[in-house]
Amino acid sequence: MGQTLDKSTPKQELIANKLTSDPRIAQAKKLIDEAVSEHRKGIDKVLPPDPEREVAYKELLQHFGSMRGGNLWYPYLGSGIGNGALVELMDGSVKYDLISGIGVHYWGHSHPEIISTSVDAAISDTTMQGHLQQNAESLYLTKTLTSASGLDHCFLTSSGVMANENALKIIFQNKYPANRILAFEHCFAGRTLAIANITDKSQYRTGLPTCLNVDYVPFFDPTKPEESTKEALNTLKNHLQRYPDQHAAMIFELVQGEGGFYPGKTAFFVALMEELKKHDVKVLVDEVQTFGRLPELFAYQYFQLEKYIDVVTIGKLSQVCATLFRKELKPKPGLLSQTFTGSSSQIYSGHLIISNLINGEYFGPNGKIQTIHEYFVRGLLDIENRHPDLICGPWGLGAMIAFTPYKGDPKKVLELSHRLFEAGVICFITGNSPMRIRFLVPIGAITEKDIDEVLSIVERTLVTQTE
Ligand SMILES: Cc1ncc(COP(=O)(O)O)c(C=O)c1O
Repeated sequence: MGQTLDKSTPKQELIANKLTSDPRIAQAKKLIDEAVSEHRKGIDKVLPPDPEREVAYKELLQHFGSMRGGNLWYPYLGSGIGNGALVELMDGSVKYDLISGIGVHYWGHSHPEIISTSVDAAISDTTMQGHLQQNAESLYLTKTLTSASGLDHCFLTSSGVMANENALKIIFQNKYPANRILAFEHCFAGRTLAIANITDKSQYRTGLPTCLNVDYVPFFDPTKPEESTKEALNTLKNHLQRYPDQHAAMIFELVQGEGGFYPGKTAFFVALMEELKKHDVKVLVDEVQTFGRLPELFAYQYFQLEKYIDVVTIGKLSQVCATLFRKELKPKPGLLSQTFTGSSSQIYSGHLIISNLINGEYFGPNGKIQTIHEYFVRGLLDIENRHPDLICGPWGLGAMIAFTPYKGDPKKVLELSHRLFEAGVICFITGNSPMRIRFLVPIGAITEKDIDEVLSIVERTLVTQTE
């Protein structure tokens, strides 16, 4: 990607540079770009499934479900092409993808720059990179993340939950023999054996042994900000008193993603973090879902919590996941390593997306993220005005947008998510009581026209249920 950290100026050019600057590669990329652009133009509106494909598609899905030991959440099998926020499925349907693989495809589908950088990745020497052998691109990504975060170290990994596992290992080693973790009620941190002990959902722990001691603190309640802050602080103090010196860290999700799209407030987080600092309990911020989605790159920057942060984890839209941490927490050799950090394509694409975010006009009160948020929310408010019994806020923050349909009735909301899928809008649920519909908006691809179309499908589908 043209970035170099090499201060020397050797006379002999690297053969890799000769390959990437070979005019035949540029020509091939141009042809690929032309072909993709031409074909993706054909994907310009929501389409129902092609009746001639429906039976075969159902069979494919059934087969897939039985092979993987459980059906897919949605009958989604992508064909391999899309156009921005629109995606084509194997049944010939075209849908608006407003959940993007739970926040992964932030630049939408078949994005020309992502394809171009993936071609660069494809002609690099290996498909996968890992901790024993990494190419220069991993170094550039690491450098971009450490300098954007202000943290000293960045350890790449293959999933959000592994970033959290690595974070816990670093902290436990540093804080040995402390062996307890503090977390918010209804938090989600992933599903490995250890992390399933933190993720506050009984369904995800059923049948698993307890292998971590976790003490829960209630989250911020916007309907009673001061009272809920006091309650959380008191609960935290009680835990710290009950188990003196035994807590290694508290894990923070600054906007509860799976838990219902609940954002906290700066004063709430500061009250808790100040208390944690008094007891030298480390502050771990899980930004696997929030990273790049609020009007600052990191949610802790948005909430102005920089001085409290010890460790941060990121994932999803970054394509490659990472644990960022301060030098005081540097682990002993051997604690962390993995065969894979990610594929070359992930690493190239992740770096491109993050660089575009940093260098584009995405952040701040007038940045693209906030502008898109406001446009989307205005549309939701219009729907609420027309159908106050069917929909209400919260609307979320930045590119994390949610609404509460049917007063949050889980059965109706779940059913709505599937009817929206059929009508051409892919969303997801969040929270339990109330249950909500959430969108992880593909900021690098979505247009106002797309949002208008999505909102009109949402309104039509919402209304249909009551008829
Ligand atoms: C806040 C948070 N942490 C961790 C994870 C786990 O990430 P992954 O599914 O990549 O392991 C998620 C995934 O949804 C998440 O939202």
